[in-house]
Amino acid sequence: MTTDDTPKVLLFGVGSVGAVYLYLLSKVCSTTVVCRSNYDVVKKRGFVINSTIFGDNLLVKPNVVRNCGEVSTTDSSADNQPFDYVLVCSKAIPGIIPSEISAVVTPGHTIIVLLQNGINIEEEYVEAFPGTPIVSAAVYCKTTQRPAGVVTHDEIEKLQIGIYPPTASPGPAENFVTLLTACGGTAEFWPDVQQPRWYKLIMNASWNPICALTRATDVDFMASGKEATELIFDVMLEVCEIAKAHGYTITREQAEAQLQRAKARVGQGKSREVEPSMLQDVREGRRLEVEAIVGNTVRAGKAKGVPCPKLEVVYMLVRALDGSIGRAN
Ligand SMILES: *[C@@H]1O[C@H](CO)[C@@H](O)[C@H](O)[C@H]1NC(C)=O
Ligand SMILES: *[C@@H]1O[C@H](CO)[C@@H](O)[C@H](O)[C@H]1NC(C)=O
Repeated sequence: MTTDDTPKVLLFGVGSVGAVYLYLLSKVCSTTVVCRSNYDVVKKRGFVINSTIFGDNLLVKPNVVRNCGEVSTTDSSADNQPFDYVLVCSKAIPGIIPSEISAVVTPGHTIIVLLQNGINIEEEYVEAFPGTPIVSAAVYCKTTQRPAGVVTHDEIEKLQIGIYPPTASPGPAENFVTLLTACGGTAEFWPDVQQPRWYKLIMNASWNPICALTRATDVDFMASGKEATELIFDVMLEVCEIAKAHGYTITREQAEAQLQRAKARVGQGKSREVEPSMLQDVREGRRLEVEAIVGNTVRAGKAKGVPCPKLEVVYMLVRALDGSIGRAN
């Protein structure tokens, strides 16, 4: 059923996190998804989601296309109405997405929502779509997709949402919070979403590349020797210093508390171990979000003259690992 006030949403690059938000938004929105590697299976069978929060065997059969150019010809609502929201759920790989979504962004109408981790990822959208509101969201959603189209979700579902830049009118971000809340999702509005982004980054810039490089879960990495946990903490503290230089405070105690959450998983069994998304990507032979999560952080440090020697080594190694994956593909 599509009525005039049913929000029209396109989700771009729908993997496991996108599937969870597709499931939620489908309750009250008309949805179209752009799928790439999982296109065939999603087209045929849709997504099946087992979620400890929303229930098991959730089946979502969306209108699915291979790219945004296909939308006008296959759009089931066939109403030629512009999309109210374009959600970018794909990995944050800089330099390609703005041109891929330009066909579905209607200036003066569409709102772009970035459901991606990392730091300083918004600017290329501001440049490509001047005047289009950019809503930026830090994502807490523990998911895996294995095999294609089959999604397991547990423990947490939360978005921290704000407008970019923070000086822009917050209305579009507040409206998206309201929409997601109406669907049963967890969404928090932040006047400056870079604060929770930096906070999340202390975990993602440390655990993600180090687990990817070592092919170890968080628990397995800590078990490799006592200095392993110290290395993680040192990288976390370097990220705290970079954040501070940009006006965002994350205390040593907060970093310690985050580390403590990982330490508490030791000895709790395989199912409690965290397999960060970058480790999943390495295992599946997919490209890594190196620049959004690690490279941009190092550059943010350099821009303010903050030394981050350990993070820099991690960056060089993980960038080369990503290059190897690229050559193998
Ligand atoms: C999802 O849950 C159902 C029932 O709870 C189970 O039969 C099925 O195997 C699960 N699927 C996956 C992929 O874990
Ligand atoms: C971010 O960190 C969380 C917690 O360690 C992890 O579950 C997730 O896979 C990471 N995701 C990304 C995209 O960095």
